[in-house]
Amino acid sequence: MSPTAATLEPATAAALGAPVPRREGREKVTGAARYAAEQHLPLRAYAWPVPATVARGRITAVDTAGALALPGVLGVLTPYDAPRLGPSDDPTLQLLQDLRVPHRGWYVALAVADTLEGARAAASAVRVTYETEPHDVTLRAGHPGLYTPEEVNGGYPAHREHGDPDGAFEEAPVRVDVRYSVPPLHNHAMEPHAATADWDAERGHLTVYDSCQGTTVVRGVLAGLFGLRVDQITVLAEHVGGGFGSKGTPRPHVVLAVMATRYCGRPVTLSLPRRHMAATVGHRAPTLHHLRLGARPDGTLTALTHEVTTHTSRVREFVEQAAVPARVMYAVHNSRTTHRVAALDVPTPSWMRAPGEAPGMYALESAMDELADALGMDPVELRVRNDAATEPDGGRPFSSRHLVECLREGARRFGWAGRQPPRREGPLLIGAGVAAATYPVYIAPSGARAHARPDESYLVEVNATDIGTGARTVMAQIAADALRVPLDAVSLSLGNSALPPGPVAGGSTGTASWGWAVHDACTALTDRLARHQGPLPAAGLSASADTTQSAKQKSPYARHAFGAHFAEVQADTVTGEVRVRRLLGVFAAGHILNPRTARSQLIGGMVMGLGMALTEHSGLDPASGDFVERDLAAYHVPTNADVPAIEAHWIDEHDKHLNPMGSKGIGEIGIVGAAAAIGNAVCQATGRRLRELPLTPDRVL
Ligand code: MOS
Repeated sequence: MSPTAATLEPATAAALGAPVPRREGREKVTGAARYAAEQHLPLRAYAWPVPATVARGRITAVDTAGALALPGVLGVLTPYDAPRLGPSDDPTLQLLQDLRVPHRGWYVALAVADTLEGARAAASAVRVTYETEPHDVTLRAGHPGLYTPEEVNGGYPAHREHGDPDGAFEEAPVRVDVRYSVPPLHNHAMEPHAATADWDAERGHLTVYDSCQGTTVVRGVLAGLFGLRVDQITVLAEHVGGGFGSKGTPRPHVVLAVMATRYCGRPVTLSLPRRHMAATVGHRAPTLHHLRLGARPDGTLTALTHEVTTHTSRVREFVEQAAVPARVMYAVHNSRTTHRVAALDVPTPSWMRAPGEAPGMYALESAMDELADALGMDPVELRVRNDAATEPDGGRPFSSRHLVECLREGARRFGWAGRQPPRREGPLLIGAGVAAATYPVYIAPSGARAHARPDESYLVEVNATDIGTGARTVMAQIAADALRVPLDAVSLSLGNSALPPGPVAGGSTGTASWGWAVHDACTALTDRLARHQGPLPAAGLSASADTTQSAKQKSPYARHAFGAHFAEVQADTVTGEVRVRRLLGVFAAGHILNPRTARSQLIGGMVMGLGMALTEHSGLDPASGDFVERDLAAYHVPTNADVPAIEAHWIDEHDKHLNPMGSKGIGEIGIVGAAAAIGNAVCQATGRRLRELPLTPDRVL
C-alpha cells in the first residue's frame, strides 16, 4: 500500500528524543566505512608535501633533481612551476604561489609518486635553500606588535564597554585582579586531514573525497582556486574521523591533492602525516587574560573587565574571541571586554572546539572562584546571585536561560558541600570545584529533499557531515518524526556536495541547521502525501526545503546554551600529579534529540576540557619557530586511564525560539568551563591558585 494519509500513524513519532544507536556504528567497527584516504581508485598515486624548515624568509632555490631521480616519482611541484591558483578568501590556501615563507612548516614543494613511500622519499630528497629573516613566535603581554582588531572570530566587535568599569572597580569593597594564560592547543582529530582527488580531464570533472566538516564549502573554494564551475566538482565526505574545527575550512591537503591530480592525470591521495598538522591545519591561539572583578560584600558584581591578548599569523588575521563569553554570563553594569592581537611568524590559528568560550570561560570562571574565595562565599551561590535576567551586553531577553537550574541540579547530583577544607588521604590532597558553561546558538541556512517511494520507504537528502557526532542518526530521527513513519523506513544520503547545499558541521550548528531543512522538507512531503489520491507513481513523490529565509532571520532573543561542571580531584603531594576523580556536568541545551549521541558529545567535550586542564600543551620554540609537541607521544590528549567517573546530565528545556525541533547545539558546550572546574578543585585541594594551563606536575609541586 502506498503511504497515503490513512496509513500515516501519528503515534510513530517517538523517534525524536529516543536513544537511537548510531546508524554507521557497525560499518565503523568492522572497517567497512571508507575514509578519504581509503578510496582505492585504479592507478592511484600519492602526494607528500615539503614543509619549510625556516620560520621566516624567502625561498632562493629548490633543487628537485635528487627527488626526480628516485624510482616511481611522477613529479615535484614548487613555487617556480606550480599552476597559478585563482582567488580565495583564505590566504592559507594560496599554496606554492610565491617564494615567501611566513612561518615554519609552510608548504614549499609537493612530491608526487606511484607509492606513498616513494612520495615521502621524494619529498625528503627535495633541497630547498632560503634567505632567512629574524622571526618572532613569542606572545607576551607588552608585545610591541599588539593592536586592537575591528572584529574577532564570529564577527563580534573586539571591544565593548558599558558604564565606568575602572571607576567601579576602584570603588568596589571586594576586588580580584588576576591574570591567566592558556597555551596554544591542537585539535588532533583521530583521522588526520586527507583527500583523494580524481580529475577526469575528458569529462572535465573533479571528484574529491575529503576529510572535512562540510563538502559544500570545500567545493566552492576549490572552484575558485582551480577556475572550475561548481557543477564540475563533486566533494564527498561520507565518513570523517573527527575535526574539532580544524576541518571546518578547506585545508592545504585538499588543494595540493587537486593540484597533483590535475598535474599527473591520475587519482592522487594526500594524507597529512600528524607531524605536519601542528603547522598546517590551525590551532587554538594562546591567550593571556587579565580579569578584574569588583563586588559588594553580598557578592553582587559591580565591575568586570576581561582583557585578552592573543596571536595571529602574518598570513591571515584570526582572533580568538575569548572575552566574548563575559558579555553573556553575569549581570554587571560596568564592564569592558576587549581583545588585542599581534601578528607573529606563527602558523595561522583557527577554530578549535568552542573557540572563544573554551579559553575565555576558563579565565572568567577561575576568576569567579577567586572572587568567591575573597568574599568567603560559596561559588555556586556567587554565580546564582549574579545570574542575568537579560543578556548583559545587548539587553535582549534570553530565549531560555537555565544556568541556575544547572548549578542547583549539578550541586545536588554531585553532592556539592560548598567550600570545604581540603581532605587528605596519605600523600593525596582532595578537593572539589565548580564552574559554569555557555555556548551560543548559531543557525545556518541549509537545503534538504525528501522522497517517498511506493514501497513506503523514504529517502532524505541533506548535505550534513557526520564527523563522528551521530549527525546521520539524528537527521533520520528528525525525518521520521516529521514524516510520522518508523525510523527504519528512512534512509539518508549525506556528505556529498551534489546534494542541496548545507553548512559545515561547526559552531554546534549542524543539527539545528540541517535538521530544520530536513524537518521542513519532510513536513512538506507529508502534506503532499496527505493530498495525494491513490497509489504513488513509480517514481514516488518528493518535496524540498531551503531554510535560507528562516535561518537568517534575526532573533529578538539572546540564544545560548548553559551548563555547570563539578569536579573532584586529587593532587599528589609527592609527585605533583593531579588526577580527576569525578567530573559531572549538567546542561541546558534545549530539546535533547538523542540522549545516547548527546551524552557522547557532552562527555567528549568534558574529556577535552580535562585535557586542556591537565595535559594538553603546544609550545612554540623561540629558536626554531616550530611547535614542539607535534605528535600524540608529545601532545598529551587524555586516554581512557585519565578519564574518571564522568557524567553528563541535562535539564528538560523547552524553548520555542530556536528551530522546529527546539534544540540548541551540544557539540561544544561540554568543553566550556570544564578546565576551570578542575582548576578550581585543584586550588581547593592544594590551597594554591595556579593560573597557567596545563596543571602539570612541575607547576603543581
Ligand atoms: Mo567547531 S570548533 O565550530 O568545528
